[in-house]
Amino acid sequence: MAEKTFTIKGDIVWSAGPTELAAVKDGYLVVVDGLVAGVFPELPAEYADIELVDKTGMLVMPGLVDAHVHAPQYAFRGTGLDLELLDWLNTYTFPEEAKYADLDYAERAYDIFVDDLKNSETCRAIVFGTLHVPATEMLMDKLEATGLKSYVGKVNMDRNGAPGLEEDTRQSLADTEQWLADTRDRYENTKPILTPRFTPSCTDELMEGIGKLKAAQNVPLQSHLSENLSEIDWVAELCPWASCYGDTYLQTGQLAGPAKSIMAHCVYSTTNEVEILKGTGCYIALCPESNADLASGIAPVRMYFDLGMNLALGSDVAGGPHLSMFSAIAHTVSLSKLRWRCVDESLKPITIPEAIYIATVGGGSFFGKVGTFEPGFEADILVLDDSGIRSTVDLDTQHRLERFCYEANAGGRVDAKFVAGRQIF
Ligand code: GUN
Ligand code: FE
Repeated sequence: MAEKTFTIKGDIVWSAGPTELAAVKDGYLVVVDGLVAGVFPELPAEYADIELVDKTGMLVMPGLVDAHVHAPQYAFRGTGLDLELLDWLNTYTFPEEAKYADLDYAERAYDIFVDDLKNSETCRAIVFGTLHVPATEMLMDKLEATGLKSYVGKVNMDRNGAPGLEEDTRQSLADTEQWLADTRDRYENTKPILTPRFTPSCTDELMEGIGKLKAAQNVPLQSHLSENLSEIDWVAELCPWASCYGDTYLQTGQLAGPAKSIMAHCVYSTTNEVEILKGTGCYIALCPESNADLASGIAPVRMYFDLGMNLALGSDVAGGPHLSMFSAIAHTVSLSKLRWRCVDESLKPITIPEAIYIATVGGGSFFGKVGTFEPGFEADILVLDDSGIRSTVDLDTQHRLERFCYEANAGGRVDAKFVAGRQIF
């Protein structure tokens, strides 16, 4: 297995900027000490002696980032999508998450999730666990062993939960503080992230406590925002003191830097909320398949993209039915087209190169210099075999990657995966 310093030969394709893919067919991607040294049409003499990984004829692209995925929900993926968000949470999600109090159950379920994530196209992930500390630490142990890089959250929820799935406010804060202390330096690849579930699950006191932890401990934070219309109405009732849903996080200190924050969905963000997100640099984890399957709506991705906001892409399993980030890319484009056609013709559809940028450079930037093949970036690499996508058409490298996003699960195959220069498979 290639380790940290090597050259990959293949058809190399990456984001040259937010709207454009660059490609070098039959080129050389050089990695030195886990970082990209460059992409070259001919191998420079200075790299002639390092290991050559010959993937001639295959696509070589930057790793994909799943910026929003619920590990405990993987067990019931692909079922229960007949309801909208709030009923879906109460009927399917909360009863399943309550099972993670049982470490034997958590072990069986997380083994499957982690194994499938390892073998997927995802190189890095931002993950929700459950409110249970032991199960969340078990999840972190298992993710660490894969070599994938991740942020993992112990969920906080002290109201509107379910039997066995609700915390006492003070205990939630104390457990979170202890868990941060125990895990923040424990792993090489895995880091804790504050994870208040969403405003309806967290009292004002808990939200304020989490905001204080974010400032004191300088750890990032993830949550949900403006996903569903009933959810937004509920937040307005619960928090009359806030000017919008996003303001509930702002006023409780949860969007304050320097540690980053990331909010899933933002399907219905108002002008005021967009200002808050842009002003704080908060990331949006777009989750198009979840938004379609839970009938939540279609996010105005073109508006966010043209405003230069921090965007990433998520599967939102089990709101979305699978871990495939190629499918997430294709759905970003498809749904933006429907939104353009059916909702607002002033917002042009997202293109495949733009969606790939969001899924690589966009999500990658949450982790640092990640997501492209510019020199100095961490070498997250996918090698894609598209020879099984049977066709008589000759395509250039960029269009082969476009086709792969749609056909990944119909003849496409991920041949190899590297994270920060380390080969995962
Ligand atoms: N909002 C609060 N919790 C959840 C969740 O588990 N999934 C989704 N999609 N939205 C949420
Ligand atoms: Fe979610």
